[in-house]
Amino acid sequence: MNYSNYLNLDELLSLQVPQSNPPAHSETLFIIVHQTYELWFKQLLHEFEKIKIDFYHNNLSEAIHTFKRVCTILKVLVGQVDTIETITPKEFASFRSSLKTASGFQSLQYWKLEFVLGNKRSEIIKCQKDTSSQQQLEQLLHEPSVYSYFYDFLEFWGVVIPKELRDRDHSLPTLPHPAVQDGLLKLYLEADNVTILLELMLDFDFSFQQWRYRHLKLAERTIGNAPGTGKTTGVPYLMQSINNTFFPDLLAIRSRFHSR
Ligand code: HEM
Repeated sequence: MNYSNYLNLDELLSLQVPQSNPPAHSETLFIIVHQTYELWFKQLLHEFEKIKIDFYHNNLSEAIHTFKRVCTILKVLVGQVDTIETITPKEFASFRSSLKTASGFQSLQYWKLEFVLGNKRSEIIKCQKDTSSQQQLEQLLHEPSVYSYFYDFLEFWGVVIPKELRDRDHSLPTLPHPAVQDGLLKLYLEADNVTILLELMLDFDFSFQQWRYRHLKLAERTIGNAPGTGKTTGVPYLMQSINNTFFPDLLAIRSRFHSR
């Protein structure tokens, strides 16, 4: 075993294949940045599988540890937008036609992440390129999200999760609920160690929103009001999800600290 074969470097470094002809210098950066995102998406999915188990077993310290890690990864993902922003509209135009209809919109792992985190958007499934990807998303659509496992965790801590939430169809997006919010508020006031976790969860949610914002602005500065290669309206389409949140109850209770 050496560095190169442990990391499968020969294979890894042969995977950047620019399509433009004549070759556009910036296409390599475009490919590497996207591939790097996909690697991090893979790691995030791996970490969230662990977080589900941590929640299920009420393992607070492990959940805190892993949330710290996913937050750190997300900061890298947000920061990485800086690199691709160095591609000017003119440079992007020099290879954009090679992408044809390819778009980040079709990223299977990205939608897996959204689904795992509870943003179940079933209409996205049909946009996947092949049956295998569609089946994988279809399966995740019907599985409990991280937020459902969070309900398990909250129950350990005495929060009563209403039956209507417990029995809810997993294929539906997460809904905020006053009973969960009451329970969370109580934990914030009485369980400092749980508060550490709750704040990390909010950090993650906000960093994801930052990613949405940075990506939208990246699209705006690179393609302006042109439609996306994935055939959406582009920036106006991205604008619709700018305030999406995965953990709505954590956000909903903030004002209640000030109205007591
Ligand atoms: C020059 C760089 C980029 C531009 C101009 C751009 C533009 C766009 C546009 C216009 C969309 C809307 C869908 C469409 O019609 O294509 C989109 C979606 C998306 N892009 Fe990018 N993008 C860029 C870089 C990236 C990077 C580096 C990633 C990282 C993986 C990424 C991931 C995504 C994802 C996941 C979506 C789907 C988001 C959603 O539907 O809410 N994009 N992009």
